[in-house]
Amino acid sequence: MKQQHITEPSEVLALLDQITGSIAVVGSMNADYTVTTERLPLPGETVNGGQLEILPGGKSANQASAAARIGAQVRLFGAVGQDSNADFLLGQLTDAGVDVSQVKTVPAPSGTTVITVDANGENTIVYSPGSNAHVSSEYIQESSKALTQAKTLGLCLESPIEAVTMAAQQAHDAGLTVLVNNSPFQPTLPQELIDASDILLVNEHEMSQLLNLNESKDSNWMEADWQHIAAQMADYGFTKAVVTLGSEGSMILEDGQAEHILPVPVQAVDTTGCGDAFMGTILAGLSSGISLVNSAQLASYVSAYAATGRGAQASYGSAQQIRERFL
Ligand code: RIB
Repeated sequence: MKQQHITEPSEVLALLDQITGSIAVVGSMNADYTVTTERLPLPGETVNGGQLEILPGGKSANQASAAARIGAQVRLFGAVGQDSNADFLLGQLTDAGVDVSQVKTVPAPSGTTVITVDANGENTIVYSPGSNAHVSSEYIQESSKALTQAKTLGLCLESPIEAVTMAAQQAHDAGLTVLVNNSPFQPTLPQELIDASDILLVNEHEMSQLLNLNESKDSNWMEADWQHIAAQMADYGFTKAVVTLGSEGSMILEDGQAEHILPVPVQAVDTTGCGDAFMGTILAGLSSGISLVNSAQLASYVSAYAATGRGAQASYGSAQQIRERFL
């Protein structure tokens, strides 16, 4: 039965009580070497920054952490290195309630990023894959049984594309709902990955590049022809997609229809990992039997909460913290 769309904050936040589903996430874990600055440096420029912080990150680990913190049962598949960052990353995920028993250790440094965050909470990120490059097709094959026990699978592109594609295919064949976040952005996705995935998650810039849309500096996405975009997205291979629009919220494209999800306004401190919290919540919602639109409404709150704290996983809230913040 199709679920009613809800809008009242109390009704949306009440969905947190329904989050019990099981999720598999395949991909990356990174130690985020983060410095805050008044403004981001221009190419060739040096700016002063605050104290360096090493924070738990990685798009996949972030998705897993956000979903587990709001109550989903989450198992993460990936690789860490043989260094102190490995213990740090696995410890943080375990504390968040993520099952990391399937994560392998490889002879490489753990994944890392260098992040700068400005006074408005905007960031730049440079990613060094390290151990994440060792998430191989063989590893996915070996992990198949555990991987396919979940209801939904979350993927991003911080791991080798062959392994991402194989994970999608295995999950698809086993009947899981597969969500793929095209980030870091790749302009061309393998057809096998598109075929095996159910829902694409992109931001407006990634969507424009993927669908060859004309995006100008002052594009007003609220006035775009979203039904047409939904049709173009379906032609591309996704009848369901989530397009995040920054401060304008997000758009859910589903079977030819477009539904705007309002943003939840907050004073942003650091937007690092907000998109991952959004995706983690959608994975959690879908695995718990909540519709895509309602999951995205809840995701607006979960990601808004994340924007008010520093770092990615370090800023994620539990169901109770999120409820208390917005009710
Ligand atoms: O999306 C945010 C994440 O991207 C950071 O945690 C960083 O590790 C990079 O993977």
